[in-house]
Amino acid sequence: MTKRAKIVTITSRKGGVGKTAITSLLARYFTEVEGKKVLVVDFDARGGISSLLHDKPINSEHMSIAEVLLVAKQQGNVQDAYDQAVIETGLEKSNNWEDTGGRLYLLPAKPALDSVLPDMDPSLLKTLLYDLDLTDEYVILIDTGADDKCVVMGTGAADVVFLPLHLSRQDVHPTIETLKTIFSKQKVGGNAVLGGMIVNQIGETQWEQDYIDKYIQLLDRFQHKSKLMSATDSLFIKLGQSRLIRKGVFLDWSLRENFLVSARAMAAAVHAVEIV
Ligand SMILES: Nc1ncnc2c1ncn2[C@@H]1O[C@H](COP(=O)(O)OP(=O)(O)O)[C@@H](O)[C@H]1O
Ligand SMILES: [Mg+2]
Repeated sequence: MTKRAKIVTITSRKGGVGKTAITSLLARYFTEVEGKKVLVVDFDARGGISSLLHDKPINSEHMSIAEVLLVAKQQGNVQDAYDQAVIETGLEKSNNWEDTGGRLYLLPAKPALDSVLPDMDPSLLKTLLYDLDLTDEYVILIDTGADDKCVVMGTGAADVVFLPLHLSRQDVHPTIETLKTIFSKQKVGGNAVLGGMIVNQIGETQWEQDYIDKYIQLLDRFQHKSKLMSATDSLFIKLGQSRLIRKGVFLDWSLRENFLVSARAMAAAVHAVEIV
């Protein structure tokens, strides 16, 4: 029997930590290195990943995730709505792109998402994606916004979750709050296995290592009563700073070995999670 596509969510209640940048990194990895079909779901009304992956603005007539969710809510034809909304997008335009058979698809977002989400059943995104019936020649990546409903619905749909953070005091609280959401989804039988905490824009200094050690202690306290399900034993995956990421350019693997290492670690976590 063919398996369904794995759903990987990149989320945090903190803005600006690299959710969108990491989604684009994973999109390129799975498309190019693994030759997968990758569906990127923009689950942020601000449409960050939509503007990274699609070179034209999403105009107001184009169907987006918001309209597809509305069709799902009204139990209409989701497949039809999806077919109208999805965009095959242009990795072949990036530098040094190597065609290994992979393809990249975008389910874009528009500002309307903000106004439809409050009335949505939190499990609707998961139902919608399951109904599309994509098989495991696909990987589905969900890039969430930082607000509560985006994080909750994105995590609820996930087989695997990545939680990016910066080593900054401001990140501790929203990071813990996001971990609590992941934890609560795991408990109610959602998969939502933690693929890793992505320590973004990290350098090589001792204080950064000390900071990670503090997070490890914090996580131990957090897991005092029951254990968080994680994909691998190494919960922290480091991602360095890159001008190419800042510019929103897809990375050139041949030149940026460091980023390939990070992407490989994330992909290994995704592969380690079995679909139930
Ligand atoms: N590793 C990185 N190196 C350089 N710039 C980065 C890196 N990660 C993120 N950025 C930049 O930081 C900003 C915020 O990142 P973004 O991915 O949009 O965060 P989020 O989606 O969590 O709000 C963007 O301009 C992005 O290009
Ligand atoms: Mg973003």
